[in-house]
Amino acid sequence: MTTYDVVQVRSAFPALADGLARFDGPGGSLVPRQVAEAVATAMSWGMCQRGSLTEPERRAEETTVGARAAMAAHVGADPRGVVFGRSMTALTFDLARTLAQDWGPGDEVVVTRLDHDGDIRPWVTAAERVGATVRWLGFDPVTAELDDVATVLTERTRLVAVTGASNLFGTRPPVRAVAEAAHAAGALVHVDAVHLAAHAPVDLTALGADFLTCSPYKFFGPHLGVLAADPALLETLHPDKLLPSSDAVPERFELGTLPYELLAGVSAAVAFIDSVGGMAAIEAHEDGVLARLLDALAALPHVRVHGSPARRTPTLLLHVDGRTGDEVRVHLAGQGIVAPNGSFYALEASRHAGLGDDGGVRVGLAPYTTDGEVDRLVTALAALA
Ligand SMILES: Cc1ncc(COP(=O)(O)O)c(C=O)c1O
Repeated sequence: MTTYDVVQVRSAFPALADGLARFDGPGGSLVPRQVAEAVATAMSWGMCQRGSLTEPERRAEETTVGARAAMAAHVGADPRGVVFGRSMTALTFDLARTLAQDWGPGDEVVVTRLDHDGDIRPWVTAAERVGATVRWLGFDPVTAELDDVATVLTERTRLVAVTGASNLFGTRPPVRAVAEAAHAAGALVHVDAVHLAAHAPVDLTALGADFLTCSPYKFFGPHLGVLAADPALLETLHPDKLLPSSDAVPERFELGTLPYELLAGVSAAVAFIDSVGGMAAIEAHEDGVLARLLDALAALPHVRVHGSPARRTPTLLLHVDGRTGDEVRVHLAGQGIVAPNGSFYALEASRHAGLGDDGGVRVGLAPYTTDGEVDRLVTALAALA
């Protein structure tokens, strides 16, 4: 595809045949036919374990190596530093527990209130278990811009965990600047790129991340998680593992047998993104649709969009005056529009923004979102005036 053709992109998604306008992408994107077929095909290959002797062994080996290479290219990492796991949450709990082997009282860990809980609780839990101190970085409750990390860094900071983009407000914090400040203080940096990677190109080095996590099910792939890091850094870490399991990197970090069929799906998802012009093309498409949506919402005084970050993903949290979020969600569903209501595990963010545990209605644009769908949404919201 030379120019991004949303009609052609949409033809790859069987789920769109139901005619629903899907604004629930931040919870997990729809899956192109190619990805579903890759998973199904791989399941019929009879793969049991990686090896070089039999055809099924070779296929398991090639599938694993291929998925590492695909993800590495996708996030600017070395394939030997790509770890697969059940989910970002599981990988982050494992990583936090591993890093905390080296922390103790007096050490400090920075988490942000803008983050999804998957990039908060693993660090808080691990820090508290070893007596390390947790420092919280806030954000402006009105704009949803992250506060200055310099205010929480000290010479005892061991790790800074920061989101690449907020799954609640869409804020894209200045991750590289945060990482540079953290590194200057001698800390490691973990970037939760789960939401960001669904909307923009992601590069481990350009972000300044030591560790980056993401979840292919947010960008057309199957449900699993990815941790990327410099293999040399992973070599220095010693996660809990079984005695007979491989001590090599990255296998050392992968508990149990990998889901080969899902790895085949990861490679297919990355290939699909490449086939539509890459994440930059997707980002440009989404930015265009977002501009239309923001313009239209600005003309609806009864609709309040929370946050106004300068740099953002096309994910909006909104309220309609006089209506609960659930009423709005149900109203939209009645019009064939899917936009969920909640705080989406960004609980600290919802509370800090004054929204309690309830959050709001989340409208997430996706690579398959059209101007027409945005117009349908705006019309449905306008009817609630
Ligand atoms: C920003 C962000 N971080 C982390 C997660 C958790 O990812 P996983 O479901 O792979 O654990 C999500 C899931 O919605 C998310 O949006």
